[in-house]
Amino acid sequence: RLEELWLTVSIGILVIFMIIIGYQTFALSMGPPSHKETLDPQKVDQHERFSEPGVKQIGSNEYEVVMTLESFAFNPGNLEVPVGAKVHFIMTSKDVTHGFQVPGTNINAMVMPGHIQKISHTFSEPGEFLVVCNEYCGIGHQAMSTTITVK
Ligand code: CUA
Repeated sequence: RLEELWLTVSIGILVIFMIIIGYQTFALSMGPPSHKETLDPQKVDQHERFSEPGVKQIGSNEYEVVMTLESFAFNPGNLEVPVGAKVHFIMTSKDVTHGFQVPGTNINAMVMPGHIQKISHTFSEPGEFLVVCNEYCGIGHQAMSTTITVK
C-alpha cells in the first residue's frame, strides 16, 4: 500500500515537472523574442525609425540619437550633444555586425543587422569623445570611427 502511494507521488511529481518544462518552453518561445525589435537590414532606409537618422530632442533634457552603422561608417557621424543630457542611442547595422564603443565611458554595444540596439548615456563633462567600432567588420574596420562632441 505504501509502495503504491510512493509510486503515485513520484509519477505525480514527474507529470508536474513535465508540465512546468512544457510551459517554460512555450512561454520562452512566445516571450522575449517577440518583444525584441527587429527589422530587415536591406530596408533600413525605409524603416520608420531609421529613414531619418540624426540627433533629436525628445524632452527638456533628453535626446535621441538614431544611427545606422555600415562598413565602415557611423551615420550620422561627428555628433554633438549637450552636456548633462540623457542621450538614447538607437542603432542598427545595414550590413554586418559592428560595435559602438566610446572609450572612457561605459558605452559598449554590439550592433547587429536585423536588430535594434539601444543604449543610454549621460555625458557629465564636456569634451570630444572618440567612437570606435570594436567588432571586426572587414578591411576598413580599423578606420571605422567618429566623434561625439559634448558641450
Ligand atoms: Cu565596423 Cu568594425
